[in-house]
Amino acid sequence: MKIPYHKSYHSSKEKEYVLDAINKNDISGDGYYTRQVSALLEQKFGILRAYMTTSATHALELAALIIDIAPGDEVIMPSFTFTSTANSIILRGGKPVFCDIEENTLNMSPKEMENKLTHKTKAIIPVHYGGISCDMDSIMSIAKKNKLYVIEDAAQSVHAKYKGKYLGSIGHMGAFSFHGTKNYTCGEGGALLINTEDEAFMEKAEIIRQKGTDRERFLRGEIDRYSWTGKGSSYSPSDILMAMLMGQLEEMGKITEKRRFIHEYYTDVLKNKALKENIKLVNIPTECESNYHIFYLIFPHELHRNYVMTELNSRGISATTHYVPLHSSKMGKHLGYTKGDLRITEKVSQGLLRLPLYPDMTRQEMEYVGQNLIDIIGEL
Ligand SMILES: Cc1ncc(COP(=O)(O)O)c(C=O)c1O
Repeated sequence: MKIPYHKSYHSSKEKEYVLDAINKNDISGDGYYTRQVSALLEQKFGILRAYMTTSATHALELAALIIDIAPGDEVIMPSFTFTSTANSIILRGGKPVFCDIEENTLNMSPKEMENKLTHKTKAIIPVHYGGISCDMDSIMSIAKKNKLYVIEDAAQSVHAKYKGKYLGSIGHMGAFSFHGTKNYTCGEGGALLINTEDEAFMEKAEIIRQKGTDRERFLRGEIDRYSWTGKGSSYSPSDILMAMLMGQLEEMGKITEKRRFIHEYYTDVLKNKALKENIKLVNIPTECESNYHIFYLIFPHELHRNYVMTELNSRGISATTHYVPLHSSKMGKHLGYTKGDLRITEKVSQGLLRLPLYPDMTRQEMEYVGQNLIDIIGEL
């Protein structure tokens, strides 16, 4: 049997919406479906403004531009994340400062983060790993005390909650991803979320996102012509993509439910064996509601993780590792970091293995993964 790591789910309406977007003869940015999707995100997630972008990478870049990250500024983030979190700051000449994570959630440790604060710190980017929230109460309170911006990197955590609030709606700004590997997708897509009442944030977002113009005001009928009003780039996605995304977002509940079922199956099948062998499984703290983006195991030894992964792969199961911590990458070394700087991050990255998880996984496929994994762990 061949089991891929990921397979996109396709909703019943997405083709119809895409065709409709094409027929509407308005396939560039900010058309009918873009407005529908923004409104849906704002209403469903309690977000003040959702600006659709071509990726979470671009949403993070936009956020860094909005708060004017400049040379000399430091931004604290975990090292256990995707390159885009750090690139958004590097591109503006700022410095990403990496802090360690907590072993129970693989998210930024508020205490470690606080230890990294300096008079140059301007913002914090907490990354919600795999659909599980950071300790947002602690992070927001440290940020408030030190007058720092908080940009939630919720690329993987659309539709997940912390203490009843949707992720992406808690920090000053947030970023979502709708990339092909994410739970709800249009291939390439994202959103910048703004939760502060400060009008300057919205104004900047509108102008920067629209190539430095006031085209958004023009689209709202507020002005006759649009022109160059500030710095900017091109971050708005085609309405065709937003049409597909609309179809997916309408089925968000169904997709999450299918993922939950598989996640819980893995937990049930593996928990006894994992406990006996000192292997950690995903832990969802009581204050969090997951979107079940990732199911992982953490082995106490890298050699064991590699053995299990190779064996699963040889049986057709695409289990895989995750991030090479940013501080231990070539760029991280260039920034002055060395191996050993972030103990938990390194330990987690060496032991972590992700299992296949996609909404239309069959019972037979789930059982094949579960049984093979138990057999292979038994050989360790
Ligand atoms: C934590 C995190 N941030 C940002 C991104 C970038 O997302 P996108 O592919 O939409 O640019 C990813 C992608 O996987 C991610 O995992």
